[in-house]
Amino acid sequence: MITGKEERPRIVTALPGSCGKEIIAGDERHLATTTKASPAVVKQARGIVFEDVDGNVFFDFTSGIGVTNTGHCHPAVVKAVQEQAEKVLHFAGTDFYYDTQVNLGRRLAEITPGCFDKKTYFGNSGAEAVEAAIKLARWSTNRKFMLAFMGAFHGRTMGALSLTASKVVQKQRFFPWMPGAVHAPFPNPYRNVFGIDGYEEPDELTNRVIGYIEEMFKKYVPADEVAAIFVEAVQGEGGYIVPPASFLPALRKLADEHHILLVDDEIQAGFGRTGKMFAIEHFDVVPDVITLSKAIASGIPIGATVFDAKYDFGVKGAHSTTFGGNPVACAASLATIDVLQKEKLVENAARQGQLMHRRLKEMEETYECVGDARGLGLMQATEFVKSKEGKEPAPKLRNQVMENALKRGLLLLSCGESGIRYIPPLTVTEEQVDVGMDIMEESIREAC
Ligand SMILES: Cc1ncc(COP(=O)(O)O)c(C=O)c1O
Repeated sequence: MITGKEERPRIVTALPGSCGKEIIAGDERHLATTTKASPAVVKQARGIVFEDVDGNVFFDFTSGIGVTNTGHCHPAVVKAVQEQAEKVLHFAGTDFYYDTQVNLGRRLAEITPGCFDKKTYFGNSGAEAVEAAIKLARWSTNRKFMLAFMGAFHGRTMGALSLTASKVVQKQRFFPWMPGAVHAPFPNPYRNVFGIDGYEEPDELTNRVIGYIEEMFKKYVPADEVAAIFVEAVQGEGGYIVPPASFLPALRKLADEHHILLVDDEIQAGFGRTGKMFAIEHFDVVPDVITLSKAIASGIPIGATVFDAKYDFGVKGAHSTTFGGNPVACAASLATIDVLQKEKLVENAARQGQLMHRRLKEMEETYECVGDARGLGLMQATEFVKSKEGKEPAPKLRNQVMENALKRGLLLLSCGESGIRYIPPLTVTEEQVDVGMDIMEESIREAC
């Protein structure tokens, strides 16, 4: 039985072990192909630690893809779920009323940026939160175009997928997408279509991207027909890319000039991950709409679209979903907010993130294959390349590093074409960050 306080991972079998192999075979036989990329087969998880079905103990530096920010099975969240489950499991908050949903709407309005009246639409996932934002933008502006960015990930349902532009496999064979979804380059300081070193010339990079969008507005996308600009304040799936400090303020200004809604997708970067409650707060920008999911209920499915109340649908039946804002999920989310605040986990993310960033930057300096180390708070990544000079992406090498780390007990996720993301729960301690980074360094040394 693990406690979550284990000091180190402990690997006792080949990976996967015999019990793991059986479950993986069952998965391959009975389940649709999704995105599975690692032979980790979990039995139980606490804090940043999990045990697999063969008795191996790992450190989870993935947080269930950015979901368990409060750590696996935080006792306060588990208690809130248990207590709510005893009272009512489901009552269709779309058509009837209960307090947990109202309380969560109020708390989200309080903690999200912007001092204006806000409302929340509840769905069940990130993609649903994005779908709601698309519909809200169309409904309230009566415009049709949506602008998003290259490298963006906004989900895989048809509307959200139309805005996604991260990997071609996500879109292949699914055309036609939603008409009117257009994309501009994202200001990636490390590699961008303008050939600019965005770390040396951040404002020039911002100007080029804004200029590109203005050109789109002149040539083929009528600005007064654009309903919304969708942006991840820090791009997630696309490679953990932090834009120049001037970018989001410039985008806000551009949106205002053309009365376009600014939709900030915080599904991956939000809820304390970057060392602030929302990533956009690093840039002092207030969006009109924020999409949330993943970490907001510590693992119970829920999506939320929080928006300036003046954009509300206002007509019953325009948008709704049976399970949206389920009472158990709302209770888990309220408990999650309490835990983040009481245990000062956002501050811990900032502190541990600095430590992790320093270690990753050292690796960038030491190893030819680490091209770039970047991130905010506990949303960190490294990009693997064939050489620093040429910057050619090295996905095979990246995969080898991840495999090496797994056999030492560190679970990781990839991002972008050749990146690895490091996103432990925000409860991670300095010692655990060090153990994780030591394993990373050994894994890189072995692969290089
Ligand atoms: C920024 C962002 N938006 C939207 C989504 C889609 O969320 P879901 O997988 O819950 O549909 C994701 C998922 O990774 C995401 O990272």
